[in-house]
Amino acid sequence: MTWIGTSWKMNKTLAEARAFADGLVAARSALDGVRAFVIPAHTAIAAVRERLPSDLPVLIGAQNAHWEPAGAYTGEVSMGMIADAGATLVEIGHSERRQHFGETDDTVALKVAAAVATGLTPLLCVGEPAGVRAAGGEIGWVAGQASRGLSRLPPHDLHKVVVAYEPVWAIGDRGREPLPHEIAPVMGMLAARFGPDAHDGVAAVLYGGSVNRLNAAALLGVPGTDGLFVGRAAWDVAGFVELVRIAARARHAGWRNAG
Ligand code: 13P
Repeated sequence: MTWIGTSWKMNKTLAEARAFADGLVAARSALDGVRAFVIPAHTAIAAVRERLPSDLPVLIGAQNAHWEPAGAYTGEVSMGMIADAGATLVEIGHSERRQHFGETDDTVALKVAAAVATGLTPLLCVGEPAGVRAAGGEIGWVAGQASRGLSRLPPHDLHKVVVAYEPVWAIGDRGREPLPHEIAPVMGMLAARFGPDAHDGVAAVLYGGSVNRLNAAALLGVPGTDGLFVGRAAWDVAGFVELVRIAARARHAGWRNAG
């Protein structure tokens, strides 16, 4: 099944979060046949969980959580706390956290293992900065980040993880939209080494970074791509639902990610 999800990053009040949730309920029929997820800020996880009927096929995630179960970590939340608030998914190692908040491959690996131990699905983000790509080093960089991020999990737990390839140069307002052929070699490597069809593979490999309604179908068509992870183009619920419909059509077209 094709995955399609959004992180709201540091956006949305509770009222805005609830309005988005109401928009998802109104678009319920569009959600069948895709694996949709929404990742609010911590403050809005419980509100979104309460607003969505439990049978609506939308996963709720958190953007980060600490690896320790409890303790003197001012400003942090634990995996258990986000699960208690309604999350079943947790984003780990997004490039903005690596860049601004000192996230390292070591803390990422601790968090991936803590998420699985808590029964959450870790959404492990990997991706090279522009300089690494300019030097032609993206395959090795991303493979290294992925294997270090997964290094604390036993092989039999790897199927509980989702990996997202998010090249830093493609993310956000200053990001550049990728062409399918630019991401294809990395997606191919991730699928072959870590993907659902690999030995002890993860559940899915997603692409993220400047996805929009015009490029989504082409990016979903890149071999090895099991879904999309979207920021700006999905912060408005109509935009998200449109991307969900595009992902559902990709499934009907019988691409590899049909699932
Ligand atoms: P944009 O889609 O806004 O580039 O953000 C992608 C992203 O970082 C998703 O987590």
